[in-house]
Amino acid sequence: MRLEWLRPKSELKEVLHEPRSVGPEIAYWIFSDLTIEKWKDMTVIAPGLYGKEFPKTYGHYHTPHVYETYKLVHGDGTFLLQKKHYENYVASGARTKKWIPEQVDEVYMVKFSAGDELIIPQDFGHSWSNVGATPLITFDDWTSGHTATDYEAIKKLKGMAFYITLGGNGIKFVPNPNYKKLPDPKVITAKEFQRLYPIS
Ligand SMILES: [Fe+2]
Repeated sequence: MRLEWLRPKSELKEVLHEPRSVGPEIAYWIFSDLTIEKWKDMTVIAPGLYGKEFPKTYGHYHTPHVYETYKLVHGDGTFLLQKKHYENYVASGARTKKWIPEQVDEVYMVKFSAGDELIIPQDFGHSWSNVGATPLITFDDWTSGHTATDYEAIKKLKGMAFYITLGGNGIKFVPNPNYKKLPDPKVITAKEFQRLYPIS
């Protein structure tokens, strides 16, 4: 196992609700070349707060037709999944569709218990937030690498559709004002999500 890379606060601030807030200097570390079963990467997200927002991964979309599985190994995490919105139109007599990054069709706040796994369906952007008091550790099986394109829409919109923050009695979801017509986020377990979006 080796340290692949890490995300300092100086980079994560691009997608934070309060970019100038004080918080963990390193938001998360990614270790690669795991040799545990099918897993390839391990992500460790620091506990703490940036202002009222929980430390999180930057958020990204994937190249189509490649699936990624995540497993929660340790800690208390919320996995934000948002489904791409497309608009259909006809060009040169052919039906086609265009991705509208500032709109999303569905938003899920997925709660995991230790050991839960989830396969991310096509067209879902995703980001983990560490909502607990200890480091959050996840495994994934992603081997396809990342390009700047995967992060582009999230960077431009200054984050995912919602910021996951500390509210009065727990977790509060703060809408990102750069998105339009946001649906209400649905709180759901990893098992419930996978029943809604089974991967065969
Ligand atoms: Fe991913």
